[in-house]
Amino acid sequence: MALKKTILITGGAGFIGSHLVRLMVNKYPHYHIINLDKLTYAGNLENLKDVEDKSNYTFVKGDITQAEQMQQLFEQYGFDGVIHLAAESHVDRSIANPMSFIETNIVGTVVLLNAARHHWKDAEGKRFYHISTDEVYGSLGDTGYFTEETPYDPRSPYSASKASSDHLVRAYYHTYGLPVVVSNCSNNYGPYQFPEKLLPLMINNIRHNKPLPVYGDGQYTRDWLWVGDHAAAIDLIYHQGRTGETYNIGGNNEWKNIDLIHQLCDIMDELLGRPAGASRQLITFVKDRPGHDRRYAIDASKLKHELNWEPAVQAADGLRRTAQWYLENTAWLERVTSGAYQQYYEEMYASEQ
Ligand code: NAD
Ligand code: DAU
Repeated sequence: MALKKTILITGGAGFIGSHLVRLMVNKYPHYHIINLDKLTYAGNLENLKDVEDKSNYTFVKGDITQAEQMQQLFEQYGFDGVIHLAAESHVDRSIANPMSFIETNIVGTVVLLNAARHHWKDAEGKRFYHISTDEVYGSLGDTGYFTEETPYDPRSPYSASKASSDHLVRAYYHTYGLPVVVSNCSNNYGPYQFPEKLLPLMINNIRHNKPLPVYGDGQYTRDWLWVGDHAAAIDLIYHQGRTGETYNIGGNNEWKNIDLIHQLCDIMDELLGRPAGASRQLITFVKDRPGHDRRYAIDASKLKHELNWEPAVQAADGLRRTAQWYLENTAWLERVTSGAYQQYYEEMYASEQ
């Protein structure tokens, strides 16, 4: 008989979290999935419309920095496992306002670690899985890859807050024997990503014929991973990863920003029926992001060798599917870019254009 489990997913109304919640609710009907989310600007329950009525799914609005709330939640549901994604996730916002990143990403993680530690009398059948980023490793030159042994060297308030939370998760493993596992992933892309991040921001601007703000010389490199491939890796690591271990997750799919934007522009021209080259005309080089990491690239061979995971979606296909999704879901785009987004956008970009 299938083993029943009650699993807390934090940040499940966000971009990656919503893909993970959908996967877990549909794949494991015998699990009870509790999605805890504060519904900040980045959280949106519309992302989960298709699973909201499932009997093995519960949404709880709450804040991971609130210790009493989290203790009560653990008492109420008696979680077997936690998959922790809730975070402030955007580098540019961390540069403008570091404090909310310290509160949510560091304090919030410790609050959850404490709740798990106090509630779980022993480690049997339990797991605290912390979802982290490759940005903790700092910046690469033209060659080389981040491995699980690469020393931490975070450069932005966001990556420093994630590095700090990673260290605290591992400290709870060594000090208190909390059964933890950590993964560090590269840049995700796909449906439901908030249009402050590169690809959905560019797609939205192309739709509206607005300038496409490329930071610095555009020669910065990221390793792009289809969000569904990340969710599949999380499922695998949650169930089969070794306790106390770290796994790097990456797409083996490096792009210089300007090349990726060119590719996106060409796809958008085709989908929108615009003349070839029209969207490329919108590209505008703007002031660089302070402390901008030059290159990220992940060596995911540990995950491949131990758990037989590899990304399934190829870049060209993923990029087209992403562009198509946003064009088919303009109502979603309009809603998330109304209100506070306008002010954010103007403060971030208006002086540049
Ligand atoms: P996101 O910003 O889209 O979603 C974050 C979610 O957390 C939102 O739903 C938000 O409402 C919720 N949240 C924020 N503060 C909260 C709080 N105090 N209490 C409860 N909920 C809160 O982020 P994402 O891009 O989906 O990233 C999810 C996780 O994956 C983050 O931990 C991030 O560091 C990590 N990660 C992201 C990427 C990426 O490319 N997006 C890559 C590697 C790792
Ligand atoms: O590597 C994993 C990380 O990827 C995650 O931990 C973060 O949560 C996620 O936001 C992402 O961080 P990046 O800073 O790499 O992503 P972003 O989409 O903000 O930017 C991607 C690249 O594009 C980066 O080099 C900056 C550049 N950029 C971004 C924006 C928003 C531009 O040139 N113009 C823009 O307007």
